Amino acid sequence: MNSEHPPSGAQPGGDTPQPKTWSGRFSEPVDERVKRFTASVEFDKRLALFDIQGSLAHAAMLAAVGVIGEQDLADIRRGMAQIRQEIENGTFVWSVDLEDVHLNIERRLTDLVGDAGKRLHTGRSRNDQVATDIRLYLRDAIDRILGYLRDLRRVLAELAQTHADLIMPGFTHLQVAQPITFGHHLLAYYEMLRRDAERFGDCRRRVNRLPLGSAALAGTSYPIDREQVAAALGFEGLSENSLDAVSDRDFAIEFLSAAALTMTHLSRLSEELILWMSPRFGFIDLADRFCTGSSIMPQKKNPDVPELVRGKTGRVNGHLVALLTLMKSQPLAYNKDNQEDKEPLFDTVDTLSDSLVIYAEMLRGLRVFPQRMRDAALQGFATATDLADHLVRLGTPFREAHDAVARAVRFAADKGCDLSDLTLEQLRVFAPSVGPDVFEVLTLEGSVAARAHRGGTAPARVRSAAAKALADLDGELP
Ligand code: ARG
Repeated sequence: MNSEHPPSGAQPGGDTPQPKTWSGRFSEPVDERVKRFTASVEFDKRLALFDIQGSLAHAAMLAAVGVIGEQDLADIRRGMAQIRQEIENGTFVWSVDLEDVHLNIERRLTDLVGDAGKRLHTGRSRNDQVATDIRLYLRDAIDRILGYLRDLRRVLAELAQTHADLIMPGFTHLQVAQPITFGHHLLAYYEMLRRDAERFGDCRRRVNRLPLGSAALAGTSYPIDREQVAAALGFEGLSENSLDAVSDRDFAIEFLSAAALTMTHLSRLSEELILWMSPRFGFIDLADRFCTGSSIMPQKKNPDVPELVRGKTGRVNGHLVALLTLMKSQPLAYNKDNQEDKEPLFDTVDTLSDSLVIYAEMLRGLRVFPQRMRDAALQGFATATDLADHLVRLGTPFREAHDAVARAVRFAADKGCDLSDLTLEQLRVFAPSVGPDVFEVLTLEGSVAARAHRGGTAPARVRSAAAKALADLDGELP
């Protein structure tokens, strides 16, 4: 029979030991499997140093407003210093019985300093505590990621400068379209990553607000000073609604979305590196230390790093969808669902950081084969548009010029040669107005040099764009 009243042995002060901080209300110990199922310490211990940082700011504020004594604060500081050391040197004993990082640290503090440890949680809940910890963690992660992005952007801009004149085919539909410079192609990725950095910077502003003070959901009746805590923790602002502050994880979703886009950009570059390294293209080679061999085919050298980055993009995209789905339809305010925010977040930070760092190193060791790129640009009638533009300058309306060049291309394709291999007489069959200077516009160099406007592929423009990128990067240094 179920009783609404707990058996006397489980009442506060009874002699049944109660390991859980909150277990005074319960009449039986938590089921072992449920304990493991609900515990988060195995993964949220990663937040430990941020948890301590938040607790120290909270304690200093409690002392300043007179909720705890100066001696309590001194005890808490002494205990936390020791705990930090234990964590850093790996001797801290994490217990799944204590559920999460917050209760593990609080219990250890109480073991070390007694009553002061028991006063630390005054005016606070794990709900605003964990929201604060994640924000501190994420702010730190974003700053590191911005540094990795800067490094990778620098490599791209430097490579672009080195290869500003190197001609390769530009593709649309993966068909040869028009000649471009390799430097220009690399700067396209520079631009993508620059926007990614902008997105992380933007996200950081919304991450960097203090939820502490919201307590469980409704705020607290103690005379807290939230501004003091925010200043101590370097937050730029305060959350303005306690329900919102403990429950929403939109800032984490924003981060994941910026991360998914960055990975998506890297996956595109990966796909190109993989194609370019195949003997069919033969445009580039990656240093051996970024590749692996085959256990059966002795000749193989596989571009594993770009392949893995391409693959890991799926994993990060999945984390984004996981958090969106986690948040969807949750009633206010905090729900235990939110404990599931951490693993996708941590894994995204790790995956993105590794990908960015390895990528910069890999590109530093990139070898390019200019002749192969040039030869490829000479196939596929890459300068057909230039011939059409030339006819327009001689007075032909663009649509007619387009048609004339299309017929010339068909003629050359049937003969198995390029437009520039046709004789002047042969070209004049399709475009009677052309003179001997037509061969200048059919060259690859003429084609790229003609596109010297802002955003264009001309070597001179690529050099100035790369120089500007490098100057911008210098200006961004923290
Ligand atoms: N481990 C929890 C989490 O990650 C901390 C907050 C727990 N709050 C609660 N009311 N059970 O979300």
